[in-house]
Amino acid sequence: MKKILILGAGTYQVPLIKTAKRMGIYTVVSSIRGNYPGFRFADKVYYEDTTDYKRILEIAKKEKVDGIVTAGTDVAVITIGKVCDELGLRGLSFRAAEIATDKLLMKEAYEKNGVRSARFRKIPFAEENYAKTISELQMPVMFKSVDSSGSRGIVKVDSAEQFDEARKTVFENTRSDYFIVEEYIEGEEFGAQAFVQDGKLEFILPHGDYVFKGDTGVPIGHFAPYDLSPETAADARDQLSRAAKAMKLDNCAINADFILSNGMTYVLELGGRSGATCLAELVSIYYDFDYYEAIIRVAIGEKYDFEKVIADAEKNGFIPNASMLLMSDKDGNIASQQNNNQPDPHICDIQFDFEPGRHVRKFRVGPNRIGHVIAKGETLDEAVEYLHRALENIHIEVEPDPVI
Ligand SMILES: Nc1ncnc2c1ncn2[C@@H]1O[C@H](COP(=O)(O)OP(=O)(O)O)[C@@H](O)[C@H]1O
Ligand SMILES: [Mg+2]
Repeated sequence: MKKILILGAGTYQVPLIKTAKRMGIYTVVSSIRGNYPGFRFADKVYYEDTTDYKRILEIAKKEKVDGIVTAGTDVAVITIGKVCDELGLRGLSFRAAEIATDKLLMKEAYEKNGVRSARFRKIPFAEENYAKTISELQMPVMFKSVDSSGSRGIVKVDSAEQFDEARKTVFENTRSDYFIVEEYIEGEEFGAQAFVQDGKLEFILPHGDYVFKGDTGVPIGHFAPYDLSPETAADARDQLSRAAKAMKLDNCAINADFILSNGMTYVLELGGRSGATCLAELVSIYYDFDYYEAIIRVAIGEKYDFEKVIADAEKNGFIPNASMLLMSDKDGNIASQQNNNQPDPHICDIQFDFEPGRHVRKFRVGPNRIGHVIAKGETLDEAVEYLHRALENIHIEVEPDPVI
């Protein structure tokens, strides 16, 4: 029996855990303790921090696992690289993982390899006259922590008067003694899911993002296909391919963020894992296969036949689909949640993350989600219409926290 180590037990790892089980793979899950939904599906649980790569390596050795994988989070990627290298497992290397989780290393790799990305400068916190360095760039700029995610320590700056304040925010959100400043790219953000296997880019699927405007933009849903001209689609593919090579990403899923500006694709960043917020599901539905299974097969050392999947999809037609998170507009306890939708082949999935009684937060960032809905259609417009109709038939009541 094959054995896999899955890092994380949250919403975005549950489908991996369930799929591995269904495939008859012995499933070891590690995560910090907490009210995480993935634990109960695992064959064996370790309550270890997935960023503690020494400890996770010990577990992987002791369990003699055939592969290690995660989905939807960057946090555990560095550990996966470490374990893959040490145990000779199939998956991204430690070097690739380091580059993927450090914005300075990533930007340097892009610059060196001719990937189109915003111009940038490295700034040590100790540098007194850092405004002079920034003056080499065009305003506005983004101040960025190199080692955070989820828009923490990312600040847009329009004028020099804001420099010190922005620098302070970055300082509070990093463990590094330097940060980066890059030029702001005006344009439309979009993303792509992709997979590299044995150095080959197996597919790239661009997708549109629904964004919630809070302190920063937070993705709350996605859709595919994303309408790009053939030239722009080819440009996005070329940039992604270069970026993946520059970062030495191999035998892993890729979650890419782009900005489309004047018809040109700028690479914001690539992650060495599949995307969150229903993005692995978007890939599965669009090409009509089980993407989680593909991710697992590669991780346990098999060669996955993506070519056949894509060829079949080309023959049968790609399947447009769209997803949206369920959210609460207040802090409080879930009083009731009702799904009044009739079973419908266009509704791919409706998920409530929690049972009634659970305390939830007013939606501000991705982890505040309380569920999701995914729908498909003959066309994207139809998929979106089914999505909205399904959402209208879902009623969640949250009893607000008492005002103190
Ligand atoms: N150079 C840039 N130009 C325009 N917007 C940017 C730029 N860099 C970052 N952003 C915005 O900030 C968000 C977060 O930045 P990103 O580098 O992806 O950090 P994180 O790892 O926190 O996601 C992006 O999704 C985008 O909306
Ligand atoms: Mg990002």
